[in-house]
Amino acid sequence: MAEQKVAIVTGSSSGIGAAIATRLANEGYRVVVNSARSVAEGRALAASLPAATYVQADVSDEAQARALIATAAEQHGRIDVLVNNAGTTKVVPHDDLEAVTPQVWWDILSLNVLGTWQVSVAAVPHLSKSATPGNIVNISSVAGTRPVGSSIPYAVSKAAVNHLTRLLAAAVGPGIRVNSVAPALTETAWTADDPFFRAIADKCRESTPLRRVGTAEDVADTVSALLRLDHMTGAVLPVDGGAALI
Ligand SMILES: NC(=O)c1ccc[n+]([C@@H]2O[C@H](COP(=O)([O-])OP(=O)(O)OC[C@H]3O[C@@H](n4cnc5c(N)ncnc54)[C@H](OP(=O)(O)O)[C@@H]3O)[C@@H](O)[C@H]2O)c1
Repeated sequence: MAEQKVAIVTGSSSGIGAAIATRLANEGYRVVVNSARSVAEGRALAASLPAATYVQADVSDEAQARALIATAAEQHGRIDVLVNNAGTTKVVPHDDLEAVTPQVWWDILSLNVLGTWQVSVAAVPHLSKSATPGNIVNISSVAGTRPVGSSIPYAVSKAAVNHLTRLLAAAVGPGIRVNSVAPALTETAWTADDPFFRAIADKCRESTPLRRVGTAEDVADTVSALLRLDHMTGAVLPVDGGAALI
């Protein structure tokens, strides 16, 4: 088996996922970049990183989630780290109940929760062979720990990811550690143009203890740190500049 560790980062053609993929590649991992639609961007990122590859897969689809893991294992011979970062939302004011149709629920839950689950299930047999042990890191959100966020289905999906993290950590130890990282608002394409996110960004700059908006690199720093924290599993780590204190 090749010596270099292998990390899969779902949804890594842009934003937080791209920052995590770049960080792990710079730390010596062979990285698998993934996206469902932005193939050119994903391929370009993989080409810019040493020993990285790109695999297109919509992780909300079970067959494609399994194919992602099978292809990554075939390309690299091992899988040591899975970062479940691919996610989606729809901005809906929490009191606009009628706007949250079953389709809105399904679009969000099928990627944020089911996607996380089915990629993890497919990866577990490979991760459990990692000597160090294997790691799953789920990118959740502060919306999963407090009654805030871009919509009720999004917040519920991230709360589910946090509980999934705890349940999975108990189920797959000691061979695999499972943790969540829960960012507050983070500067990415997702949050750049929407008035809802701009208002939260202003609040972060004005009144959070650290007086700034988080960056994708802040989240990548936290993932990188978690991978070295060998006695931590089942944890949900906030990356929020102290936003929970206000
Ligand atoms: N930005 C924030 O303020 C913030 C805060 C807290 C948590 N988060 C979480 O951080 C994660 C990344 O967010 P981001 O802001 O970096 O978003 P982003 O820039 O929009 O990136 C999302 C990535 O996921 C990919 N993706 C979307 N649907 C996918 C699917 N079905 N299968 C595989 N890949 C898919 C996208 O590529 P394609 O669309 O081309 O497939 C893209 O690479 C999400 O889980 C989000 O909930 C973000």
